[in-house]
Amino acid sequence: MRLSQCHNFHDFRKLAKQRLPGPIFNYIDGGADDEITLRRNSAAFDSCDLIPRVLAGVDKVDTSVEVLGHKLAVPFYCSPTALQRLFHHQGERAVAGAAEKFGTLFGVSTLGTVDMRDIARDFNTPQVYQFYFHKDRGLNRAMMESAKESGIDTIMLTVDTIIGGNRERDLRTGFSIPMRLNLKGIYEFVSNPMWGINYLLHEKFSMPQLDAHINFDGGAVSIGKYLTDMLDQSMDWDDVAEMVEFWGGKFCLKGVMSAEDAKRAVDIGCNGIVVSNHGGRQLDGSRSPFDHLTEVVDAAGSDLDVLFDSGVQRGTHVLKALAIGAKAVGLGRGYLYPLAAAGQPGVERALGLMKAEVERDMKLMGVTQLCQLTRDHLRFR
Ligand code: FNR
Ligand code: LAC
Repeated sequence: MRLSQCHNFHDFRKLAKQRLPGPIFNYIDGGADDEITLRRNSAAFDSCDLIPRVLAGVDKVDTSVEVLGHKLAVPFYCSPTALQRLFHHQGERAVAGAAEKFGTLFGVSTLGTVDMRDIARDFNTPQVYQFYFHKDRGLNRAMMESAKESGIDTIMLTVDTIIGGNRERDLRTGFSIPMRLNLKGIYEFVSNPMWGINYLLHEKFSMPQLDAHINFDGGAVSIGKYLTDMLDQSMDWDDVAEMVEFWGGKFCLKGVMSAEDAKRAVDIGCNGIVVSNHGGRQLDGSRSPFDHLTEVVDAAGSDLDVLFDSGVQRGTHVLKALAIGAKAVGLGRGYLYPLAAAGQPGVERALGLMKAEVERDMKLMGVTQLCQLTRDHLRFR
């Protein structure tokens, strides 16, 4: 299978599966527990139908949106994800490059594999820094200072990982950071030599946001265990209010699911929230963001920009979320499989296909601007 044969999410997933060692593919692909929430995230979009309008003069459509003070040329962005250079040696640089090309936003993760400062310097497109609140408060300060130094204007604090999710696929494969594998995992790598050659030939694996502060010599841990052991489980609204004040720039909470929490985010001075369940990787059995979006948008009112992610695979998914009231929609696996499949050209192809779908679907829906989409365009079954 080649990149030119990838026409949708499922094709990219298939190619990524061919190109990646099993443990890495399963780290991306998997969710928590029985993966019920993971599956529901995408299925939820099918419980709602679009009602198109016709004869609306749609020869020209504008796909831009405004979110967190930035104009994005497309209504979707690349949500921050960890460890990207493990998926493809170009890692975060490929994602940033593709996001820049499409005039959209992307995020570098605390567990990113390229320094957020280098990315901020080299790419001219809106960038958020995804923050994991560690027990080590000195590390938290240092990360905020680095983000300030690099001119990044928005912190996206992830709040749905207070403890690691139970990702049983990773326990089975032994996937961990720094990378160590059990016997089955080693076999997977040996049987996938191209990935291994690229991994060895390119820049050594590192996590620059953390390397100066955390000593990984103590042994490899699963991502779930890293989150559980290193992040501060006592983090509460007061801590975040303090952080919002110290930061002084735009602040967004990622992983808010309840209307009450959306209101509290307004109270402590946040500018945005992402309605998300972390792509089904944390609390299995939790509601899908799409099923719950209406409630959160209504609670947030006009005081917050409501962003959305989890389960998005299609242009119509993006339009449905916007029609309910999301300002922009994040992709996770939707660009990670393309990254793993083919590096920057892969991500560009995926974003290009998504843009084409959004344009086509807008025309078929009879809207020329995304702000024209309303709940009147939707019916739940
Ligand atoms: C993630 N996600 C994530 N989120 C975050 O705040 N910090 C991180 O480091 C990561 N890392 C990460 C790695 C991988 C492999 C995946 C798949 C996801 C969650 C991500 O930002 C986003 O919320 C979900 O991926 C959205 O769901 P979909 O689009 O993957 O269904
Ligand atoms: C994940 C973490 C790192 O979902 O956010 O794997």
